[in-house]
Amino acid sequence: MGYPVEHSLSPLIHNAAFGATGENLLYLAFPVRPGELSTAVAGLKALGFKGANVTVPHKEKIIKYLDRVEPIAARIGAVNTIVNNGNELVGYNTDGTGFIRSLNEAGFNPSGKNVLILGAGGAARAVAFALVDAKCTKLSIANRTLANAMKLADSLTDKCGLIPEVYSMDEKELHLVLSEADLVINTTSLGMWPKVEDTPLPGGGFKKGQWVYDLVYNPIETKFLKQARERGCYVISGLSMLLYQGAEAFTLWTGQDAPVEVMEKVLYGAVNKKN
Ligand code: ATR
Repeated sequence: MGYPVEHSLSPLIHNAAFGATGENLLYLAFPVRPGELSTAVAGLKALGFKGANVTVPHKEKIIKYLDRVEPIAARIGAVNTIVNNGNELVGYNTDGTGFIRSLNEAGFNPSGKNVLILGAGGAARAVAFALVDAKCTKLSIANRTLANAMKLADSLTDKCGLIPEVYSMDEKELHLVLSEADLVINTTSLGMWPKVEDTPLPGGGFKKGQWVYDLVYNPIETKFLKQARERGCYVISGLSMLLYQGAEAFTLWTGQDAPVEVMEKVLYGAVNKKN
């Protein structure tokens, strides 16, 4: 459920996964207008849907219509996955766990690491809490609007006791923290098609051997990632987060491991065809 939702790649990956595992399930995208969210949620229960994914602009507002919200989703303040267990609708957030899994699969363990997050919106929030749970030791947040970065930092301090450093998006000011970070993550929408020349760090400024992650996945290699790769960094595309948040949701609905290779194949196939 989202609005708009027509271009979502989730039906593709989940239907491929259901086919590969023999699950008698079908995944459909439903555009749900903001004023109709409560009715749509009631419909999930009344019609016996097994579950749902929730995307922009409903991830926060949906919480009040659910029977229960898992602690991780409650702390993030956003739900992207619903499980209907027969008598109650339970909200989960697989964005953060999917993000950590994509890092682990790529070979990066956040434990004890120094991380710089660019952006302070909903995606940054899910990523930041997941990184704290994964025991990163230092977190810095840089954002165009400093007040929003401070709000996220305060929330991390309140809920996890971590005190992040906060910066504006000024590359001169970011120079030192950028050079010291083990992992740099773009959570802003800068660089997303069609504005592919945009990047949160036009000057590059990455350090060789650093890990660089872009949540933007269209194009697969953004300008941000291209600059990092050319500097000798390890780069990860947001497509892997999309894949693993989907894999985690699949497991919540079916109780079994997701056929990740099948999902990955259709996902990369669809994105390559578009580009
Ligand atoms: P999402 O749920 O995808 O994270 P969001 O909550 O709207 O979306 O957050 C968008 C993030 O991208 C914010 O950090 C936003 O910065 P502000 O807090 O200053 O709004 C950032 N962002 C969006 N457009 C931007 C731009 N043109 N330049 C810099 N940052 C931008």
